Amino acid sequence: MDGVPTPASFAALGAPLDGVLAEYMVLDQEGLVRLPEHLSYEEGSTLACAAVTAWNALMYSGRIKPGDTVLALGTGGVSIFALQFARLNGARVIITSGSDEKLARAKALGADDGINYSKHPEWDKEVMRLTDGKGVDHVIEVGGIGTLARSFASLGFGGQVSLIGVLAGREGDSNPHALMLKSGKLQGIFVGNRVMFEAMNRAMAINKMKPVVDKVFPFDEAIAAYKYQLQKKHFGKIVISI
Ligand SMILES: NC(=O)c1ccc[n+]([C@@H]2O[C@H](COP(=O)([O-])OP(=O)(O)OC[C@H]3O[C@@H](n4cnc5c(N)ncnc54)[C@H](OP(=O)(O)O)[C@@H]3O)[C@@H](O)[C@H]2O)c1
Repeated sequence: MDGVPTPASFAALGAPLDGVLAEYMVLDQEGLVRLPEHLSYEEGSTLACAAVTAWNALMYSGRIKPGDTVLALGTGGVSIFALQFARLNGARVIITSGSDEKLARAKALGADDGINYSKHPEWDKEVMRLTDGKGVDHVIEVGGIGTLARSFASLGFGGQVSLIGVLAGREGDSNPHALMLKSGKLQGIFVGNRVMFEAMNRAMAINKMKPVVDKVFPFDEAIAAYKYQLQKKHFGKIVISI
């Protein structure tokens, strides 16, 4: 509900509990929140994991402030919510992607700068160039061990890397030397709690903020939806609808 999880309360739909690819489910009433009125069910379905995780990283754990700079890796579900929440809070956003087209979409959504990590494999150097050598205050780290060392190198003094995902594989350089030199912080993030979810929904309702739904697949095409995600074709969220 609130605070730090305990072993007894450590539960999230999808991991470690069953996910929600079902027509009907029985859920604990304490685990449900009200859908913000300006959202459809399909839009609301995107919030429980990706959005709450990004909110937790930036608003609770990271406590970003107006004028901070946030670096979001890639243009998947978590990172696009992070972009939207960071902009809502007056932060500057630098986003990376393997696609120029997706970077253009991210800029249309409010990103200040984009870096194509295919064209710039040493993307941390681009981050430093864009921040006049200062580095960023917060990194939304969805790559894991494959991107971690460059996230540390992108950080400014006293900044935070929120470790959320493992998209860049399980091999790589995670040398923490830069983190130490910059008095930085590495913070693991595991989704969030109900209090965070409700605060996030209030902020979204006041600002009429809508999740970015890339594509909606019908229930009987669920496998095609997963394949579409694996092909990295999407921007933001994919929804499977009944
Ligand atoms: N800790 C938690 O509580 C929590 C909660 C939610 C999700 N996660 C995890 O966080 C990760 C992100 O989730 P998601 O829902 O946002 O995934 P997603 O929507 O599938 O994100 C995919 C996108 O990530 C980008 N990407 C992939 N490899 C990359 C790399 N090496 N460097 C930079 N960007 C890369 C690509 O963006 P471009 O196509 O733009 O390059 C890709 O399209 C996953 O590992 C997921 O399991 C963890």
